[in-house]
Amino acid sequence: MNKILVTGGLGYIGSHTVVALQQAGFEVVVIDNLSNSTEEVAVRIENITGIKPVFVKLDLRKKEMVSDFFLRFTNISGIIHFAASKAVGESITNPLLYYENNLNTLIYLLQECEKHKIGNFIFSSSCTVYGEPDSLPITEKAPIKEAMSPYGNTKQISEEIISDVCAISDLKSIALRYFNPIGAHHSAEIGELPVGVPQNLVPFITQTAAGLRDQLSVFGNDYPTSDGSCVRDYIHVVDLANAHVVAMQRLISEVNSSNFEVFNIGTGRGSSVLEVVQAFEKVTGEKLNYKIVARRPGDVVSVYADTTKANESLGWKSEKSMEDALESAWKWERKIRNL
Ligand code: NAD
Ligand code: WQD
Repeated sequence: MNKILVTGGLGYIGSHTVVALQQAGFEVVVIDNLSNSTEEVAVRIENITGIKPVFVKLDLRKKEMVSDFFLRFTNISGIIHFAASKAVGESITNPLLYYENNLNTLIYLLQECEKHKIGNFIFSSSCTVYGEPDSLPITEKAPIKEAMSPYGNTKQISEEIISDVCAISDLKSIALRYFNPIGAHHSAEIGELPVGVPQNLVPFITQTAAGLRDQLSVFGNDYPTSDGSCVRDYIHVVDLANAHVVAMQRLISEVNSSNFEVFNIGTGRGSSVLEVVQAFEKVTGEKLNYKIVARRPGDVVSVYADTTKANESLGWKSEKSMEDALESAWKWERKIRNL
């Protein structure tokens, strides 16, 4: 059985990926410093799969502790590296936190890969690397635009670091560029747990419907889109988790076409903010209190993925609808609020 290290494995996307890995027959070891998650998630994973992942509480910024970990845990076949700070606004006010947490942790892990001959590495990248695209849908060949935030910059720099290391070593790596992950596991055992006021659309919607927020602000209805609100590619987190399993299998079975590959992971469909609101109301039967407000600075108008490369080379495609994702997000919200 292949042993996979999942960093940030108790977080939102990481926990769904641990479930998918276990269900595909992988043994999983999780590292997380619980800065944006809780240890209870490991129990919730066990409630779904029947297997509690081995969990090591560790801050990946502590280089010596990272080295110690790899002396204690041997025979790791691959690493999926989710651990990072991810709030775009916070990265603007505290850039050093982001450069330290998102880059140092990556460098330390890559050093351990070299030391312990771990050859398979999957990295959480983001569609944010494309900035405002010149044409849609976006393919992996689209130019990387100047980053709009330190957070986005860490994703660009991380891809460059990994690519440079792959060029001079035996490391094989895949960077998955996620579009907008939403939803939760259908069991409602795991889901997204934003700290404080959610910055992202779907948790803001579910918290508004749950009565935690008075009103959703829709940021702008004067964009050049069909209804004036911004367009994104919302991908179900369970589909996204499965992409990691397929990517790890690709690396382990050595059918990758180069040592460093990137794949867009989205649905290929764009939905506007107002379409998401309408779909949420339709699938849940809840009336959402929302109002149109000014544009949010820094928002791109429209982004959605061309997923041809992931479909054809990775053999992966999204299967779940946005409606499924919104229904699961609402089920999760009600469960954690005891509604
Ligand atoms: P998350 O915050 O839910 O999960 C990240 C996990 O990493 C958390 O459990 C946190 O406690 C842990 N962590 C952070 N710093 C750590 C450190 N120094 N040492 C050990 N553990 C640490 O975030 P997520 O939404 O699951 O995102 C996972 C990855 O995907 C991140 O790299 C993020 O940048 C990337 N990503 C997320 C999105 C999104 O919209 N959620 C989109 C594109 C890319
Ligand atoms: C989606 C749409 C908002 C909240 C961010 C990061 C990106 C990636 C995914 C990590 C936009 C609108 C939102 C609200 C709204 N993360 N909106 N009212 O901005 O596409 O991407 O998360 O890599 O890097 O930037 O996602 O969920 O914040 O917004 O109208 O209260 O919803 O304007 O059009 P975004 P989002």
